[in-house]
Amino acid sequence: MRTYLVTGGSGFIGSNYIHYMFDRYKDEIRIINVDVLTYAGNPENLKDIENNENYTFIKADICDRDAIEEIFAKNEIDRVVHFAAESHVDRSIRNPEVFVQTNVLGTLVMLNCAKKAWELEDGSFREGKRFLHVSTDEVYGSLEEEGTYFYETTPYDPHSPYSASKASSDLVVKSYIDTYHFPAFITNCSNNYGAYQFPEKLIPLIINNTLQGKKLPVYGDGKNVRDWLYVMDHAKAIDMVMEKGRIGEKYNVGGHNERQNIEIVKTIIHTIAEMLPDSDPRKAHVNEELITYVADRKGHDRRYAIAPDKIRSEIGWEPETKFEDGIKMTIKWYFEHQEWMQHVTSGAYQKYYEEMYR
Ligand code: NAD
Ligand code: DAU
Repeated sequence: MRTYLVTGGSGFIGSNYIHYMFDRYKDEIRIINVDVLTYAGNPENLKDIENNENYTFIKADICDRDAIEEIFAKNEIDRVVHFAAESHVDRSIRNPEVFVQTNVLGTLVMLNCAKKAWELEDGSFREGKRFLHVSTDEVYGSLEEEGTYFYETTPYDPHSPYSASKASSDLVVKSYIDTYHFPAFITNCSNNYGAYQFPEKLIPLIINNTLQGKKLPVYGDGKNVRDWLYVMDHAKAIDMVMEKGRIGEKYNVGGHNERQNIEIVKTIIHTIAEMLPDSDPRKAHVNEELITYVADRKGHDRRYAIAPDKIRSEIGWEPETKFEDGIKMTIKWYFEHQEWMQHVTSGAYQKYYEEMYR
C-alpha cells in the first residue's frame, strides 16, 4: 500500500485531490494530510473522510522542520504531493512576507525532509519515491496577444509577490532535481474552480455575492483573461503525472478554456437565475445590475493561457470537464452547501472583505 503525504490537504485543491484519490484508489492507498489550517484550511472540506482508517490528519506547519521530520521518521512515505501555500494574489499584495515564508521556505523544508528520509548513502534515492510540487501558470507572467501560450519552456516572469514566491519555490525544487537528482516533478496549473474554493477567489465570491444580492466587484475593465480548469481535472492530472511523468520534468496543466472575467461574472449571474425556482425571492435581485467595476488589482496580469501539449502527448491527460458543465456543477455545489459558506464567511472573512473592497 502506497502512503501519500499531502501538504495543504484541507484547502481547496488539496481537499478535492484527497477526495479524488480515495474515490479512485479506495483502500489501496493511505493519505496523511499535513495542514496548519490557516484561514484557507478547513476541516469541513474533508468531513466525509475524516473517519476513514486510511486517512490521517496532522496539524503542522510545513516551515516547522522538526514536525515534518518526525512525520517522515514515523511513516514510510512514498509520495509527497505539495499543495500547502499562501495562494491569494490580493493578499500577497497587502502582506508579502508570509508568502515567502510559507511558499519558499516551507517548500525548502519539505524538500530537505524528503531528501533526508529517501537518500541512500551513495547519494541516490530509494526506489519509487516521488515528490510533486504543485505550482501555477502565474510564474510565467502575463500574455498580451491572443494565440500565444505558456509552454514549459516559457521564461519565468512573475509579477505579484504570490507568483514571485511560487516561481522561487519552483526554482528551489528544480535545483534539487539538477543538483541531487531528487525525484521530483513540477506542475504549473491554470486557474481552478469547483467545490470547496474559499470565497476570496473570483468564482465563489461572485456566486456568494450574487445569491446574497451584494455588489459583484470586477477589477479594472473586466477584460483580463484566465484559463479555467475544473478542479477534479487538475486532481487527475496530478495523479497521472505522479504515475506516468518523467522524473525531473515540469508539466503545464490546463488548456484552451480562456474567458474574460466579465464573461465569467455574467455566466454565473445567468446560470444562477436559471437555476433558482421562480418562487425563490432571491431571483428578483439576480441580474447584471449587481456588477460593479472597481479599482484594478496592482500589477494585474492581463492574460494567462496554457499550452497543454506536453502533458497530453507524454501522459495522455486532457481537460475533461466542459466549462458549461463544470460551472453548473460548481454553482449547484454552493447552492447545496450554504452552511459551509456561512461558516467560512463569518468572522475574519468579514474584516478581510471590508478592507479589501471598501
Ligand atoms: P488554498 O489557499 O485553498 O489552500 C492552501 C492550504 O495550505 C490551506 O489548507 C492552508 O491551511 C494550507 N497551508 C498554508 N500555509 C501552510 C503552512 N505553513 N503549513 C501547512 N499548511 C499550510 O490554496 P489552493 O487554491 O488549494 O492551492 C493549492 C496549491 O495549488 C497552491 O500551492 C497554489 O499555489 C497552487 N495552485 C492553485 C491554483 C488555483 O487556481 N487555486 C492554480 C494553480 C496552482
Ligand atoms: O492562474 C493560477 C492562479 O489562479 C493560482 O496560482 C492562484 O492561487 C489563484 O488564486 C488564481 O489566481 P488569480 O489571481 O487568477 O485568481 P482570482 O480568483 O483571485 O482572480 C481571477 C481574476 O478575477 C483575476 O483577473 C482578478 C479578477 N477578480 C478577482 C476578484 C477576487 C475580480 O475582478 N474581482 C474580484 O473580486
